[in-house]
Amino acid sequence: MNNKSVFVTMPSLAPLEEYMELLKGVWERGILTHNGPLVQQFEKEVNSFFNIKQSVAVNNGTIAIQMAIKALALKGEIITSPFTWVATVSAIQWEGCDPVFVDINPETLNIDPELIEAAITPRTVAIMPVHVFGNLCEIEAIEAIARKHNLKVIYDAAHAVGTNYKGRSALECGDISATSYHATKLLNTAEGGACVTTDDALHEKLKRIRFFGHNDKKDIVEEGFNGKMTEVNAALGLANLKYSAEVLADRKAKYGYYKEALKALPGISFQKVENDACNYSYMPVIFPSEAVMLHVESELNKSSIFPRRYFYPSVNTYTNIVKYQPCPKSEDIASRILCLPLYYTLPMQTIDTIIGIIKSSMK
Ligand SMILES: Cc1ncc(COP(=O)(O)O)c(C=O)c1O
Repeated sequence: MNNKSVFVTMPSLAPLEEYMELLKGVWERGILTHNGPLVQQFEKEVNSFFNIKQSVAVNNGTIAIQMAIKALALKGEIITSPFTWVATVSAIQWEGCDPVFVDINPETLNIDPELIEAAITPRTVAIMPVHVFGNLCEIEAIEAIARKHNLKVIYDAAHAVGTNYKGRSALECGDISATSYHATKLLNTAEGGACVTTDDALHEKLKRIRFFGHNDKKDIVEEGFNGKMTEVNAALGLANLKYSAEVLADRKAKYGYYKEALKALPGISFQKVENDACNYSYMPVIFPSEAVMLHVESELNKSSIFPRRYFYPSVNTYTNIVKYQPCPKSEDIASRILCLPLYYTLPMQTIDTIIGIIKSSMK
């Protein structure tokens, strides 16, 4: 690693003085947590900026998924995608449920709705699709299946802040969506996340679960845990949120630039996005084979450029934690996909260098 290394991502950060200004208030009030004023303000501003009715800010995206499962009192099998981060599956298992993998559509990289019904059993209680790289899932098909079989839908929307669907935020889809404000995400609080539901009773329940199961009178009314976001994290989120429009526009422009430059290369493909329903928060490139991808990666590494094999491997192959269920499309894509560097402060000149190396290594 050296100063000139280029990594797959860098956090989008507001100017330090703006964060410090918010921290001054935290010091003055002496309130660090317990649904403090900055957490409340952060929720309000997120809701307004992303056009969401309400949200419950929590301490990370994994907890947000667990809280969603707990709030819906699910016990049984949850159908999910193997092409995801391990947290989707570990959250399901931590809540005592069993993940059932349904393969992906190799073009959208999201769960293939056409394969879902065949995986439903009498133990199925929910579907947990993932908006992979911020690309909206096939909402209507998924929700029609859920209605028909009386299943809940929880979206793993960790990547989907800023993705819209028919004028609504993707976060309002399903019974609950769980998102992440991790350092690598479009909007970050260092660590953080949120549960979003348009159902008021469920929203109140999620707030209680976040706070040990307390109601307003501090009685314990249900099983909860500690999902609280701190004031220090909320301050960072508030500072960063002001730049979200710029960050979204910048990633989209850079995504388009990379795509235009690389699309003619033999055997290269990109995630299929319908109706612009994506926040373009990652730059995934699918190579014709694992060998080609590994060669490109090693050529980039020689110039201290470190893209990331993501998601790799396909989560259904993590046999230390799950029973292997074959998902050939996910396993194939995972073997030859590479996420290229994409972040706000990434200079266009570096993108040109990356494009140049990829082109010459594929000659
Ligand atoms: C698809 C997906 N789901 C869940 C998570 C978990 O989010 P967090 O890191 O905030 O716990 C991530 C995290 O990076 C993710 O990529």
